[in-house]
Amino acid sequence: MKRGDEMEQSGGIVLVGCGNMGFALLEGWLDRAGIPAADIHVVEPAEPLRHRAAARGATVYVDASGLPEALQPQTVIVAVKPQIVGSMLGAYRRFRETAVFVSIAAGVPLSTFEATLGESAIVRAMPNMPASIGMGVIAAFGNAHIDEVQTGQVTDLLAAVGSVHWLSEERLVDAATAISGSGPAYLFHFIECLTDAGIAVGLPADTALSLAKQTVGGAAALAGTSAFSPAELRQQVTSPNGTTAAALEVLTAEPGLADLLKRAAEAAHRRALELAVVG
Ligand SMILES: NC(=O)c1ccc[n+]([C@@H]2O[C@H](COP(=O)([O-])OP(=O)(O)OC[C@H]3O[C@@H](n4cnc5c(N)ncnc54)[C@H](OP(=O)(O)O)[C@@H]3O)[C@@H](O)[C@H]2O)c1
Repeated sequence: MKRGDEMEQSGGIVLVGCGNMGFALLEGWLDRAGIPAADIHVVEPAEPLRHRAAARGATVYVDASGLPEALQPQTVIVAVKPQIVGSMLGAYRRFRETAVFVSIAAGVPLSTFEATLGESAIVRAMPNMPASIGMGVIAAFGNAHIDEVQTGQVTDLLAAVGSVHWLSEERLVDAATAISGSGPAYLFHFIECLTDAGIAVGLPADTALSLAKQTVGGAAALAGTSAFSPAELRQQVTSPNGTTAAALEVLTAEPGLADLLKRAAEAAHRRALELAVVG
């Protein structure tokens, strides 16, 4: 039996990269999943971000060489930019026999991880920005080496920041990236456009912004909880020859909003596939 700092430290999480999404995960684990801060090891080169994680009680390291030799994490979360994945992975190879690796790097395929980690349990997951308030959507796909218990553990970790959707094929992660991963930005832009439209019809800028934000928030909450489909809800608020009908006539005239969004999602999907090539 080993003693002192040589004792094996089994379990816990190594979080590699604690930027926007890494920190959202960290906060979710602490605030919503009840994971003790002492179980979380954060590797982050940027000093302010390291301090931010340390202030929440996590143990922090500048790079992987600082991680205790005896550490045997249950999960390694890869939350660095896609371009960094190839160069950082080797430093975590020693955990491949005991840990599940979960990558949230957009576009980076499982094969990139398997090239370094071999026959390890690896998950590709795609969260989105509302994860920072516990309202994210996380699409995930696990390779052939992940078992049922590990799938449950990863589901619990990801569920701390939103709703988890396991996909049946890896290629669907890129499709989900184009919809839920990038989707919040589409909605933020929609709010910007609706605000500008409000200003154009005479509203003060701050009123237009408040109306736009609360309309999108309220409509999204209603669509999320209602028994009616979005199409039925749209029909319910559209009186024949009314104001909404006049606006929808413009939005649905070819090529309408549907075509624009389809082209936007296709562009995001193409970019995810390109990242896979350079990743
Ligand atoms: N943000 C989103 O909405 C979102 C959504 C879905 C998926 N993702 C994915 O999540 C990943 C992280 O995105 P993000 O927005 O959180 O990026 P970010 O804010 O830039 O965070 C990444 C962090 O990783 C650090 N880092 C760089 N090299 C490292 C290394 N070798 N070891 C440990 N940490 C290292 C970076 O530090 P430096 O800045 O000093 O390099 C940075 O602080 C990306 O792969 C992205 O595709 C993000």
